[in-house]
This record gives sequence, structure tokens and C-alpha cells, in this order.
Amino acid sequence: MEPLRVAIAGLGTVGLGTLKLLEKNNKLLAERTGRRIFVTAISARDRTKKRDHAIDHLKWFDDPVDMAREADADVIVELIGGERDPAKSICEAALGSGRHVVTANKALMATHGNELSKLAEKNTKILNFEAAIAGGIPIVKALREGLSGNEIKRVYGILNGTCNYILTEMRQQRKSFDEVLQEAQSLGYAEAEPSMDVDGIDAGQKLSLLASLAFGCRINFSGVYTEGIRHISLIDIDYAEELGYRIKLLGSARLTENGLEQRVYPCMVGQSFPIANVEGAYNAVVAIGDSVGDTVFQGLGAGSGPTASAVVADLVDIALERKAPTMGISTNDLRSLPEAPISMHLGAYYVRLMVNDRPGVIADISAVFRDENISIESLIQHGRSVTEAVPVVMKMHECIEDSMQKALSKIHHLDSVIETPTMVRIEDLN
Ligand SMILES: NC(=O)c1ccc[n+]([C@@H]2O[C@H](COP(=O)([O-])OP(=O)(O)OC[C@H]3O[C@@H](n4cnc5c(N)ncnc54)[C@H](OP(=O)(O)O)[C@@H]3O)[C@@H](O)[C@H]2O)c1
Repeated sequence: MEPLRVAIAGLGTVGLGTLKLLEKNNKLLAERTGRRIFVTAISARDRTKKRDHAIDHLKWFDDPVDMAREADADVIVELIGGERDPAKSICEAALGSGRHVVTANKALMATHGNELSKLAEKNTKILNFEAAIAGGIPIVKALREGLSGNEIKRVYGILNGTCNYILTEMRQQRKSFDEVLQEAQSLGYAEAEPSMDVDGIDAGQKLSLLASLAFGCRINFSGVYTEGIRHISLIDIDYAEELGYRIKLLGSARLTENGLEQRVYPCMVGQSFPIANVEGAYNAVVAIGDSVGDTVFQGLGAGSGPTASAVVADLVDIALERKAPTMGISTNDLRSLPEAPISMHLGAYYVRLMVNDRPGVIADISAVFRDENISIESLIQHGRSVTEAVPVVMKMHECIEDSMQKALSKIHHLDSVIETPTMVRIEDLN
């Protein structure tokens, strides 16, 4: 068979990792696909930059969009990143000129995946994006192929390694969010501008792709409800442990009678669930099918090697001419689903209040919850102080989010409550 010729746009962490892996496992890949997979052309921003891998034998393009259109290649691998140009134009130029595309770019797929999938379909080309969700975990393939006999009931997971690392370090090293974030930044685990990670945006982008694959709907990133982890403090992590939970930033999607639920927020999960024990920089995805039940996938969601592993797997599929619609079904058949609003969320809650410990405080708080039809399952107050604020922690029975928000807003205005109440949802994973 003819070799598969590949051009790579972007020679950073993932681009160089992909180049190295293709060279290292060249023989193995040839055995598995029956053809050689080799890189013919490359492009990045700075040609003179020192790279820790030989690239002089490869044809260099200053402009990656020109490369996508003109290179001697069957596949263009987009590893530059970002939702706009040049990433978008590279994919459009490649698909428009009859080349397949592999990308690791969740931002691009979350915002322009619908139109790019359509373009791929129109040109009968493949658009693969395994590395865009949970790095090295083969979850796109699992949902698109391995679980294709199932109606998917729910898909959820730890989709951002930086947040999972921060939450794990806070608990294990007994450090504050700010301390761990700073350390993560100095070690290169977190970006200098961390909001994509810690505010849940990156996880939200990945969740919108998972939801589309799982439920056969159009990608709807703007419909993802997103909350990050900045407000999680060590004290809440400790109370979670005491109550038998662990705090994780989860992305979760399911179909409900109110529409498609797509949510990213920190929540308490029971310590006995596998996801509670996924620690550090690891990612995990749980997909629940009507026939198979729970399936759990765990692995590194970032880094040169794990991400290159997913990119190369996409190339192997192309070399084998294995072709699946980008989002699992034809773009014409992807549904537009209504969004289930977070105000309708039904669940249990953890609430922590910092109060001046005066007689009648608990009665005032209980009255507010009673008026909103919310009942308290348990209450913890360790110690008393007449001079300092003390934490009062409550576990609430299931209620509607809207009622909880109204109650918290009223409680915030009580004289004896001296901080904004902290609320963490308790996630039902059964
Ligand atoms: N890093 C991970 O662990 C990981 C995991 C999963 C998915 N991803 C995704 O993979 C993609 C690449 O990430 P990365 O971490 O490898 O990024 P990176 O290390 O920052 O590398 C980006 C590369 O793109 C090149 N580039 C930037 N702007 C360019 C432009 N205007 N024209 C041409 N080239 C340009 C850079 O060129 P120079 O080298 O010349 O500066 C660099 O080689 C992103 O979509 C990211 O979300 C990354």
C-alpha cells in the first residue's frame, strides 16, 4: 500500500511528541496498518527556534495554511491550538483541498466543530480529534465505536488534570488553593494565566464534545453551565472527608426531561466511587450505557507522550481507512437539544456558613431553609467561640437549585452570617 504522508502544524509539546512517536514506533505502525506513516512537512511560528528533535530533513512552511493546502500530504495534523486562526483556516484549507485532518484542539472543536464536521462530510474526508478530550484516554473511539451498541445514559468525568492536581495537593499537602496554584505554575503544570483551567472552561469545551458524541446532538459549548474551583477551600475539603465525600471538578452530561444537561462544577462525590480516587494530574471518564452499564476510562489527560498517543491513533485509523462520522453520526442527523437550566437542578447540597455564634442563629437559618421547602439532613458545628466566627456545616436533602440559591441569598443577609455562604453540590453517581 502507498505510505500515508503527514504534515504537522505546530511543533510544541504535542507536535514534537507526535513527530517523535511516529519515528520511534515507525515499524510497529507499519505492521499494524500495512503501510508506512511518515511526516513530509512541518510548520510552526519560528523556524529558528531550537527544538529537541531533528527537523531539518522535513519541508518547512512559514505559513501553516499554505502547508495545509499545498503540502505533499494526505493528512494535516493541527497542533497549534486556539479557536481561531490559523487553526481554523488550517482545517478548512486541508479539508477543502482533499486532505484528512487530525487535531488535538478542544477550543476549536467546541466552537467550530459543527461546521468543520460538515465540511469534512461534504468533502468525504476524515476529521479526527481523539486528543482533544482527556488526552491519552481513547474516549472518542470508545463512544463512537466500542459503545456504539448502547444508548448512553450519562457521561461524566474528571476532564482537567490541572484542577484535579490542585484539589489533590490541597487535600494531601494541606495547602490553600493559592499556594498550590502558585506551585503548579512554577512547575509548569498550570498556565501563568490559569483561568481556562481553574474556571472550568477547558473542561466545559471537552464536555460539549463528549455530550455530542454520547447523545448524537450538535456541539453546544455555550450551553455548558460552568463553575470553577477558586472558591474551594481546605476547610471544605476537610468537611467533605468527614462526611464521606471527596471534592472533584466534574463535567457531566445527560438527557433529562428538561433537556440536555451539560455541567462543569466542583462537587462532592462518595469516596467509594472510582472517580473519587482518581488523583493528581490524571483524568477519568465514566460512560454509562443501557446495555454495558458503567465503563470507566482513566489515564493522563495531558503531556507530550499521552497526547501524541491519541494523535497517532487517529492517524492509524486514517491509514487503515477506518472512517466514522466526526461526531458519531452524520451531521444532518445531529439533533439540536434544549438546554436543561441549572436552576432546575435537583440534588443534595453541602452548605458552610461562617457565623457569629449567638443564641437563635441556627433557628434563623433553619427558618430560611424551611420557607424555601429545603430540609436539613445533618448539621455539624465543631467548637464554639464568642469572639470568632465559627463554621456551621449542613448537608441538605435533595432540593431544586433555584430554591437553594434563594435560601442562600437570604441567609447571606442575616446579621449573624459574616461571609458569603459556601455551597458545594453533592453529586449522585448511582
Ligand atoms: N499540551 C498538552 O498536554 C495538550 C493535551 C491535550 C490537547 N492539547 C492541545 O494540543 C494543541 C497544541 O498544544 P501544545 O501544548 O503542543 O501547544 P504549544 O506547546 O504551545 O505549541 C504550539 C505550537 O504552535 C506553534 N504556533 C503557535 N502559533 C502559531 C502560528 N500563528 N502559526 C504557526 N505556528 C504557530 C508554535 O510555534 P513555535 O514553536 O515556533 O513557537 C508551537 O510550535 C492545543 O490545541 C492544545 O489544546 C495539548
